[in-house]
Amino acid sequence: MSTYNTFLHGGDYNPEQWLHSPEILEKDIEYMKMANINEVTLGVFAWSVLEPEDEVYNFDWMEQIINRLHENNIKVMLATPSAARPKWLADKYEEVLRVESNRQRNLFGGRHNHCYTSPQYRRKVRDINVRLSKKFGNHPAVIAWHISNELSGECHCPLCQEAFRNWLKDKYKTIDALNEAWATTFWSHVYNDFSQVESPSTIGESGLHGLNLDWKRFVTDQTVDFVKAEKEAILEGGSNLPMIINMMYDYGGLNYFKFKDVVDIASWDSYPRWHKEDVAEIAVDTAMQHDFIRSLFKKPFLLMESCPSATNWQSVSKLKRPGLLLASSLQAVAHGSDSVQYFQIRQSRGSSEKFHGAVIDHYGKPDTRVFKEVTEIGSSLQQIEEICGSNTVSKVAIIFDLESRWAMEDAQGPRNKGLYYRETVMKIYKGLRKLGLNVDVINSEQSINEYDIVYVPMLYMFRDGFEQKARSYVEQGGNLVLSYWSGIVNETDLCYLGGTPYGLMDVFGLRSTEIDGLDDGEYNHGVSTENTIWNPSKIYTCEHLCDLVHITTATPILVYNEDFYKGYPVLTANSFGKGNAYYICADFEQEFYDDFCEYLVKKHNVPVEFSNIPKGIQVNTRETEDDVYVFIQNFNKEAVEMNLPLDNYSVLYGEKNQRIGSLETIVLKRKK
Ligand code: GLA
Ligand code: ZN
Repeated sequence: MSTYNTFLHGGDYNPEQWLHSPEILEKDIEYMKMANINEVTLGVFAWSVLEPEDEVYNFDWMEQIINRLHENNIKVMLATPSAARPKWLADKYEEVLRVESNRQRNLFGGRHNHCYTSPQYRRKVRDINVRLSKKFGNHPAVIAWHISNELSGECHCPLCQEAFRNWLKDKYKTIDALNEAWATTFWSHVYNDFSQVESPSTIGESGLHGLNLDWKRFVTDQTVDFVKAEKEAILEGGSNLPMIINMMYDYGGLNYFKFKDVVDIASWDSYPRWHKEDVAEIAVDTAMQHDFIRSLFKKPFLLMESCPSATNWQSVSKLKRPGLLLASSLQAVAHGSDSVQYFQIRQSRGSSEKFHGAVIDHYGKPDTRVFKEVTEIGSSLQQIEEICGSNTVSKVAIIFDLESRWAMEDAQGPRNKGLYYRETVMKIYKGLRKLGLNVDVINSEQSINEYDIVYVPMLYMFRDGFEQKARSYVEQGGNLVLSYWSGIVNETDLCYLGGTPYGLMDVFGLRSTEIDGLDDGEYNHGVSTENTIWNPSKIYTCEHLCDLVHITTATPILVYNEDFYKGYPVLTANSFGKGNAYYICADFEQEFYDDFCEYLVKKHNVPVEFSNIPKGIQVNTRETEDDVYVFIQNFNKEAVEMNLPLDNYSVLYGEKNQRIGSLETIVLKRKK
């Protein structure tokens, strides 16, 4: 179900930069209508105009703009201004500025440069939020709250240190429990009292893994708490609209899943490096991020920002080639987005983003290539309107867990040169996407019972109870694929004793005994045994990490063919309860994942929309109670001849044709 009954098409709009030019503001509205824009995100970074001096508020300009937008049927997502503060505020309350891990306080400048703990900052944010909520929270044009902007970073000020200690006290209760959880006897780092604990620092403690991990968790919790405080202020002001934060691509600083109780709709800002690398490759990478965001709440999400042409912050600013903006926008929708939004509507005239792409550029008129493409996106969304709010059903999932990644990447050994975690997740993702499957990308706290196959690559840290969840999933008929370097440590990064993968050795019918790190350029290979499950002549290259396992009940399917562990298993299968447990021992090449994913999907009867999807063609489905919508997109440089059973479908968008042009999209429909 969609929160809105129409696709939102719009984006960040900063009229506060143009208040001295009313004629420009009028033109903006005219052009928005021309471009089929029905939404703007207002007020991001507008604090110094909304409150030019302490407790002197000026909302009139915003009121006029919201009214004008309303008269023209353009909806508003209203931002709280907390992502950047006015100079007077930083001057008046020094504590609002952020302290870096070297314990040095920043000067005023930039954005996001604030302490999430500071009572003064929270008070000032609260005051303005309550007022904004009272004034605009029930305006018919306003449809959501956009809380702050791209929350990120951390602060090491005394107030944050105190909050961290309280967080630890709450978690561990006694200092002995903390010492044990962090193994502080190592190098004599034992604490006598919570008051001695400090956040990790470049000039102090940096190698106490339990501390590092808890600090990262604290930063997430403190940021969630900040958002919660913003939300409470909005509720206090009398507005009950959906709350949204805009998340970022592969951002490692916050565990986004923890925002599930304060945020109503997941959204993210998408800025891929289009054209710098192969477009088809970038498309799959972007697709995985869409799926990660959608999987947070397992509901439609919003594409909150994207660039209409070139960003200005990449090393080289490449223009989006004709057709790419449309294809990438529809790709977001194919993966479950109910919006296409841009940064930004009108290009700023000065300062650090003056050359960032925008719907309306400095030329200021609509007869531009970009404006025309934006207009086309608006009308395309209208054509596929009935898809808005529909669901994505995935029968396969990959666990991609940030907390485990934090611990694994901090761990020191077995390969400090790079563990290739995200790349490994991506290889599985690609293997599944080549089959046209919708894929959920979830974390280890989420439920897995609804899936036919769950892939768990490199889950170094098993959170409390994960092994029971995995065990009962397999017992009841699930198919679980686990890989090397999994189930190694517990929630506080203490190594499990008694064998790994922890708690699942009987499920997989093996024990991992040792793991070999391979240098760059070193390889081993997986070759078939007599238990082969597919083409016996294939040899798969592996690198980086090679796990040596001792088998109890598992069947070896592939074995290593080099080094002292030649003949040891590198891929195994074990039946357990009503299900199957597969174990991958090494970092295999893409082709292995392509073949293995295809084998498992067939063997376990996972339904696919089409077989034989040509390379570089992306297939997605969204569905309602009665209908299935099928998106087919070609991200290749060239047109492609497909051979798909299109006769069974009616066409909703594009042309039903076996020949699909480069960057072309077709949307089909069938009854369920
Ligand atoms: C982010 C921010 C925007 C803008 C864009 C530029 O997504 O949220 O304010 O800076 O990047 O790409
Ligand atoms: Zn702080």
